[in-house]
Amino acid sequence: MQSKRALKLGAVIHGVGSSVSAWRHDEVQADASIDIDFYVKQAQRAEAGKFDFLFIADGLHITEKSIPHFLNRFEPLTLLSTLAAHTSRIGLVATLSTSYSEPFTVARQFASLDQLSRGRAGWNVVTSPGEATAANFNRGGHPTHDNRYQIAEEHLEVVKGLWDSWEDDAFVRDKKSGVFFDPKKLHKLNHEGRYFNVAGPLNVGRSRQGRPIVFQAGSSDSGRKLAALTADAIFTNHETLEEAKAFYADVKRRAVEAGRSPDDILIFPGIGPIIGDTEAEVERKYEELAALGSIDDALQYLSRFFDYHDFSRYPLDEPFPDLGILGSEGFRSTTEKIKKSARDNNWTLREVAQRISTPKGGFAGTPEQVADELQRWYEAGAADGFIIGARLPSWFDDFVEKVVPILQKRGIYRSDYEHQTLRDHLGLPYPVNRYTQTSAAK
Ligand SMILES: Cc1cc2nc3c(=O)[nH]c(=O)nc-3n(C[C@H](O)[C@H](O)[C@H](O)COP(=O)(O)O)c2cc1C
Repeated sequence: MQSKRALKLGAVIHGVGSSVSAWRHDEVQADASIDIDFYVKQAQRAEAGKFDFLFIADGLHITEKSIPHFLNRFEPLTLLSTLAAHTSRIGLVATLSTSYSEPFTVARQFASLDQLSRGRAGWNVVTSPGEATAANFNRGGHPTHDNRYQIAEEHLEVVKGLWDSWEDDAFVRDKKSGVFFDPKKLHKLNHEGRYFNVAGPLNVGRSRQGRPIVFQAGSSDSGRKLAALTADAIFTNHETLEEAKAFYADVKRRAVEAGRSPDDILIFPGIGPIIGDTEAEVERKYEELAALGSIDDALQYLSRFFDYHDFSRYPLDEPFPDLGILGSEGFRSTTEKIKKSARDNNWTLREVAQRISTPKGGFAGTPEQVADELQRWYEAGAADGFIIGARLPSWFDDFVEKVVPILQKRGIYRSDYEHQTLRDHLGLPYPVNRYTQTSAAK
């Protein structure tokens, strides 16, 4: 199945990397997670590769066991506000949790990023999987998995409502008559719901792309439901083409059931490509990085998904332990997948920890092989695009310099930006302001 759109690409920038030990690699700048120059350089590289967007992941609590990148890093919206000034076309997607934020503040911050970047902002909606997060906020405890998604649904409804506070042509700014705005085009939300009461209106108007693009990261049944109802894109993770195809078909089907077009939601698996001029070079690069981490590092990485459960108490070379429901209130879709793969493949604890902490993944090979695999997933209806999480800066360079030109030559990826806004890069329709819609229908 060929999508009518070209393939889309996002880049996660992750400072010293997404593992326990990558920061020790010779080429890694050990303070990259908190160095703006590093981020500017990576952002400009992604823009040179004509990427659709940069993507900044985030979390709201740390422990001594958190990976080094999590310990000392930038808050995403603040970071992207700076990167907006150092780039001109690439989209800017920041992660922010609906479980620990106020919709008015979120609507205002993203609307501001959208204005100051001239229509390039996106919000990655997450629900905060870690129970310990609650200790940093005054909300009376961590909501359950189901509850977090209910909160997220209402939170998003409020934020989107606030983003429509001003109709597109509400600001008249006529100095002669002294009319700054048309009061008929200003709308109060007056939302009264189960979790939020918010009057509005918002003190920021709509941007060039109408409103920021909404991503959702969460792949459980509730996560898919939320995405299908309300998101423009979903960030997900899959090991095999078959699994990715099934996920893709399911989310598109749910979107149609919710009264939307399947083209209204884009699906982005995250991948960590390893590129070499020969297969031997790929292997060498992979082994070099994997060798930096001990088995204890791997267990520590794994434990994050299971509320920092102590895995050192189990034998390493016996089948992965039966953890019961552990993990299902946090990273539900991820922990279910880990348990299922371990069971289906009869993996030991050591094998699971190594696979999760230093995955080789299906996107390892020569530039041609990686391009083939991307194209295969895209054409098979498994992805509308990919979020590239390069594990080393030079691996990102390899992707931009060697794989992107192949995709461009094949005509499935842009050779230059055709548009200004993230919405237009992604080929998503302009969202008509709900109040304009109502008055048109009258
Ligand atoms: C691919 C992916 C990326 C995620 N990124 C983040 C993130 O940056 N910050 C965060 O707090 N949670 C993140 N999450 C967690 C989700 O928001 C969610 O809380 C968790 O996955 C549990 O929901 P689920 O069972 O529906 O997947 C991510 C989840 C997935 C699957």
